[in-house]
Amino acid sequence: MNLILLGPPGAGKGTQAKRLEEKFGVVQISTGDMLRAEVAGGTEIGREAKAVMEAGKLVSDDILVRMLAKRIERPDCKPGFILDGFPRTVPQAEALDTMLAEHGVKLDAVIELKVDAPTLVERIAGRYSCAKCGTGYHDLFKLPKVAGVCDSCGSTEFVRRADDKRETVQARLEAYEKQTAPILPHYAGRGILHDVDGLAAIDDVSAQILAILDALKVAPK
Ligand code: AP5
Ligand code: MG
Repeated sequence: MNLILLGPPGAGKGTQAKRLEEKFGVVQISTGDMLRAEVAGGTEIGREAKAVMEAGKLVSDDILVRMLAKRIERPDCKPGFILDGFPRTVPQAEALDTMLAEHGVKLDAVIELKVDAPTLVERIAGRYSCAKCGTGYHDLFKLPKVAGVCDSCGSTEFVRRADDKRETVQARLEAYEKQTAPILPHYAGRGILHDVDGLAAIDDVSAQILAILDALKVAPK
């Protein structure tokens, strides 16, 4: 299964990608996570990306396309992948077409998670994750079962993303509208774009995605 999850910041791409990854035995490729790892590692890419990300803007197409081309060649992508956060511009979508054609890989679907702006701001402002294993939580919608203890690994340390400040969220939403939404027709024209009501509860959003994949006869592992 090869899938793109599209949607504005906070739409639930990461949340749904993690669930699909387990169910279908494919790998989540989050360009945001990859960039955050570069920033944390103090690499050249990380140094270039840090300020851009903290301002809520998009990192250059050149860096992203090179990064994805390298990632998609790794053997763990063979059973399939879920792209989370890529492509984000028309040039990235075009570069992806070329990459997939070179590898003889077909996209099964592009799934757009639709969520309104006030909900996105609320979701992003409340988000945090486990500092050790990365499991995601939310101040209102997804608390750990035991307060202050990660459900997955038992760690008691949590972190918030540097770009999850209310003032940065607006810039991220604008970048989505101006630079990312224009790629939707690229996929709609090919009949592979499906939309999902991302305002629904997390389980319901998963059920909508599974129904789309089921109709396309994409089987779980
Ligand atoms: P990236 O990391 O991709 O961030 P994003 O697109 O802004 O999206 P988020 O990760 O914030 O949201 P999400 O959709 O994954 O939602 P989540 O599941 O966490 O990119 C960060 C930055 O990196 C960019 O701004 C850019 O600078 C750079 N970058 C990355 N890729 C790039 C590219 N290709 N080109 C250029 N630059 C690039 O959910 C959010 C919260 O809501 C969570 O707390 C979750 O628990 C909760 N939640 C999820 N679903 C629901 C639901 N259905 N109901 C209630 N709560 C929910
Ligand atoms: Mg994400």
